[in-house]
Amino acid sequence: MAERIQQLEMKHISKRFPGVLALDDVSITLKNGEILALLGENGAGKTTLMNILYGLYHQDEGTVLIDNEVIHVKSPKDALLHKIGMVHQHFMLVPNLTVLENIALGYFQNTRFKLDLGLVRKKMMDISVRYDMAVNPDAYIWQLSVGEQQRVELVKTLTLGANLLILDEPTAALTPQQTDELIDLLKEMAKDNNSIIFISHKLNEVKTVSSKIAVLRNGKLVHEGPTGSYSVTELAEQMAGRQINLPKSPEKSKFGDVMLDIKKVWAHNDQGAWGLQGLDLQLKAGEILGIAGVSGNGQKELADVINGVRKVEKGDILLDNWNITNHSAQKIIDQGLGYIPEDRLHEGTLPAFSVRENLILKDYTTSQMSSSIFLKKKVIDSFAEDLIETFNIKCPDMYTSCASLSGGNIQKVILAREITRKPKVLIAAYPIRGLDIGAAEYVHQRLIEARGAGMAVLLISEELEEILDLCDRIAVIYEGKILKVLSGSEADNRKLGLLMAGVTDEE
Ligand SMILES: Nc1ncnc2c1ncn2[C@@H]1O[C@H](COP(=O)(O)OP(=O)(O)OP(=O)(O)O)[C@@H](O)[C@H]1O
Ligand SMILES: [Mg+2]
Repeated sequence: MAERIQQLEMKHISKRFPGVLALDDVSITLKNGEILALLGENGAGKTTLMNILYGLYHQDEGTVLIDNEVIHVKSPKDALLHKIGMVHQHFMLVPNLTVLENIALGYFQNTRFKLDLGLVRKKMMDISVRYDMAVNPDAYIWQLSVGEQQRVELVKTLTLGANLLILDEPTAALTPQQTDELIDLLKEMAKDNNSIIFISHKLNEVKTVSSKIAVLRNGKLVHEGPTGSYSVTELAEQMAGRQINLPKSPEKSKFGDVMLDIKKVWAHNDQGAWGLQGLDLQLKAGEILGIAGVSGNGQKELADVINGVRKVEKGDILLDNWNITNHSAQKIIDQGLGYIPEDRLHEGTLPAFSVRENLILKDYTTSQMSSSIFLKKKVIDSFAEDLIETFNIKCPDMYTSCASLSGGNIQKVILAREITRKPKVLIAAYPIRGLDIGAAEYVHQRLIEARGAGMAVLLISEELEEILDLCDRIAVIYEGKILKVLSGSEADNRKLGLLMAGVTDEE
């Protein structure tokens, strides 16, 4: 067995970006077999610290030591030579290559020799058998679900020889079952003398998986120690520096007119099979309706058809009594639809554009923001400034590009834009995915307010707690149809769990 890293130390690391001190004298240590959870609010510096370890950024000050020797990691390639591997917050697989080709690509960058695909295949299969992670080497990445891609990233990192693994929010997009599997897997890997650094905002899983925690706040290390002695509530307080209670929607009995009427809609999924099979659903003004379901049961297709980016083959969709079936996305937006998409970075923002531009993305042609030829700079500036403040978007200024924001802050830009537009219908797909718990509290509050203001909110989520806290009614989606609609008060974890698995005859 090749030598394993016994100890990693990052000492007095500082890193500055234009206008931000992202890391301020941070030190952490990690021993073989440990799982360290790196915690902190959105923008606290977690990804930056890990990017330094992985050679994507270089620290301004401080040193990294492996087994008491200073190392200089100049690139991810260098990192792998030191057996450090990373699975990123936003996956980095090439969609139109196969699993094997993606893994080979990593190899290619790491060797001077001609690549032996057969050897890569064998190594990869060894790893996948050893950790019981089924992956098909010949499947194309675009064909895989998020959970499967996650697995590929892990297999890839291990196949390339990493023995210290960095996982940046690996469970953000996983279903509860996939998360449990991943947690078991990580424990198995740690037992096998690997070390793991794990970033997550989900404190329950942090409790289950990690042996120690390090908490960053505004670029500073505010706490480091064993996980065991803290409750989830205490961890949340450590992160935010204050107490946090996720809000619940107050009970309500009167709702408005039907704002979104989905009538027996059929649509294909990306693989050409039926993704929606006669889905029927009515959403009223002033209510939050939750779509609960295991991902892959039509959620994505549902959001797509409402947004006008997927063809409706049969059936109709009415927004405030206007038939919007197969209208262009822009027309549907003008008709009063707001959308917080699942894939924020690519679908929700133009990453190369500034925060300011992204905030007005959908409204810059309105008379409020532009005269016939010119944009009204002052109006836009104060609008952007306002939103940055109200939504607590962390950025040096409004001209910062969205791409350089932390994951959670990109999310806030979209939320700010979509909620402020006061749409009639707001579709929120996994709205707190990747958010720290303070920000999640904030988003939930905004959704409750949107409901109070009479918007019709469709909440797509896999977090049952989120659904139970917020929704007036809950529709369970299963195999492209609504299996059952429950009122918020009659629903509970167990009932929803059964329905999500397709069981309807239980009483
Ligand atoms: N390439 C960059 N250019 C400019 N600023 C950056 C860059 N990368 C990160 N930052 C800034 O550094 C700070 C820390 O960001 P980082 O991505 O490390 O946060 P994080 O803790 O990972 O947050 P999240 O939980 O939202 O992912 C933020 O203020 C961010 O805007
Ligand atoms: Mg991050």
